[in-house]
Amino acid sequence: MFRTHTCGELRLNHINETVILSGWVQRIRKMGGMTFVDLRDRFGITQLVFNQDKNAVLFDQANRIGREWVIQCKGVVAERSNKNQHLDTGDIEIIAIELIILNESKIPPFTIEDDTDGGDDLRMEYRYIDLRRNAVRRNLELRHLIALEVRKYLHEFQFLEVETPVLIKSTPEGARDFVVPSRMNPGEFYALPQSPQLYKQLLMIAGFDRYFQIVKCFRDEDLRADRQPEFTQIDCEMSFVEQDDVLNIFEGMMKHLFKEIHHMEMSPFPRITYADAMRLYGSDKPDLRFGMSFVELKELVSGHQFAVFDAADYVAGICASECSTFTRKQLDELTEFVKRPQIGAKGLVYIKFEADGSFKSSIDKFYSSEDLKGIANAMNAKPGDLMLVLAGETKKTQKALSELRLEMGNRLGLRKKNDYAPLWVVDFPLFEWDDETQRFYAMHHAFTSPKPEDISLLKSDPGKVRANAYDMVINGVELGGGSIRIHNSELQHKIFQIMGFSEEEAQFKFGFLMDAFKFGAPPHGGLAFGLDRIVSLFAGLDSIRDCIAFPKNNSGRDIMSGAPSPIDMNQLKELNLKIEVPEE
Ligand code: AMO
Repeated sequence: MFRTHTCGELRLNHINETVILSGWVQRIRKMGGMTFVDLRDRFGITQLVFNQDKNAVLFDQANRIGREWVIQCKGVVAERSNKNQHLDTGDIEIIAIELIILNESKIPPFTIEDDTDGGDDLRMEYRYIDLRRNAVRRNLELRHLIALEVRKYLHEFQFLEVETPVLIKSTPEGARDFVVPSRMNPGEFYALPQSPQLYKQLLMIAGFDRYFQIVKCFRDEDLRADRQPEFTQIDCEMSFVEQDDVLNIFEGMMKHLFKEIHHMEMSPFPRITYADAMRLYGSDKPDLRFGMSFVELKELVSGHQFAVFDAADYVAGICASECSTFTRKQLDELTEFVKRPQIGAKGLVYIKFEADGSFKSSIDKFYSSEDLKGIANAMNAKPGDLMLVLAGETKKTQKALSELRLEMGNRLGLRKKNDYAPLWVVDFPLFEWDDETQRFYAMHHAFTSPKPEDISLLKSDPGKVRANAYDMVINGVELGGGSIRIHNSELQHKIFQIMGFSEEEAQFKFGFLMDAFKFGAPPHGGLAFGLDRIVSLFAGLDSIRDCIAFPKNNSGRDIMSGAPSPIDMNQLKELNLKIEVPEE
């Protein structure tokens, strides 16, 4: 028997029991004739005591072991004289009577502590050691709990978990596909699913009614803190539902998670339209933990010989409470921030509403105190506030002002990790126009239903058509999104047409779905959440990498295993693949 208890289990009520523990050596402290070993497993840490006076042979043996060795120790549970409040087992210790070394360990490349000395790359290279750290393990435990609670909730509401294939037909739209060559079908390829979208719709046609799946998805896209090439969705679909039904069920799911995980009762999630989100926050995933919504000023500020404002399509500002004391240096930093190429503003206008009621601004030359007061009124500013204004082309300026708003939120400490501000963004546009390729793309995906009242616009003004599409956003992160689907093959054809697909192209890519629509497709809709993003929100992480057991780095590499890697010529030949090796 390797153990009678885990390293997190023993308490005062076990005193005088003879126990066996197995685990890894976290720490060894030698104090004269006594050696203390902290033994660790997934469940906790227990102190072992080796006393030279009581057993010299055992004492010598204990002094030879090193960090991360795997040992088994038999001993008697005793009450500690100096208790350790920080450990669950801190009231007791084990007086060792037998020690077995199960395996030795090389000295680990970094310390296995919450604040480790290991850099990112090193920790990723030795991820199995990194995973021994509490901080990382806790994230995976939380991930397990969240997945469990999701399954419980959805099961309660009669959702059925069904697995869909991983080797599927390539239908590039949205992100790029990862492809897999087929040995048995030379020159042909499978793709890995970007999501199980088509299959879940087929399951609705098959009459499954309510489906879900916690499922790996694959997208060959550039990586960011909240993006991995393989990630996990909580993918869901429902039949005979309208948008409200979907939103209610999944708002319920998120509230269930807040209740079970954080013991928080959440209020109803506000719902705002895409148009309002853009107008008020310049973003379709606004962080509502703080205010500072946009105020449009174009009309008010035009005609004062200030060319920047006069020439701009759009002028808008945000008001930062009690920030009129910002120094020149702070304002310069903000100006530099908005001028960074990724943000792209040409400059920043500030208006300080001083505590004494006077104004100081970067546009004093063009606007009188009275004019500035008018702007302050429009922006609901009070003495002591700071107004920041951007001008330019509408979309670009909204985006820049949105970034500035978030930056101010950061600087003022308004984006607290343990505050949660959820919302639904609804009524997304059905299409977005791409100047480069001169065509419409589906903003969500091609199977999304237009709002019935907007169908007449499909012919005349497709860009104006709104979709029955929605996103759940919490703290500025898009956690999930979905839509009511088209279940009529004629309408689906029309959408493909607007997106510039020829009949043959549509048939080649999605023919099987279009055919299925002809066999009694029920009205249906659904959504998918990013599980990694949910876990990282609940754990307060900065990157989803930290809640994935074996993540990829920013270049899509697994630096531990060395994937991706070249494959051998024979393997290539078997797959009927030829690759040109670049000349040295
Ligand atoms: P969408 O593309 O919006 O919708 O994806 C749903 C959710 O998946 C998460 N997500 C990601 N998480 C980590 N890394 C990525 N690369 C990544 N890409 C997406 C996000 C996102 O909200 N089939 C539709 C859903 C539907 O219509 O039902 C879909 O995949 O949290």
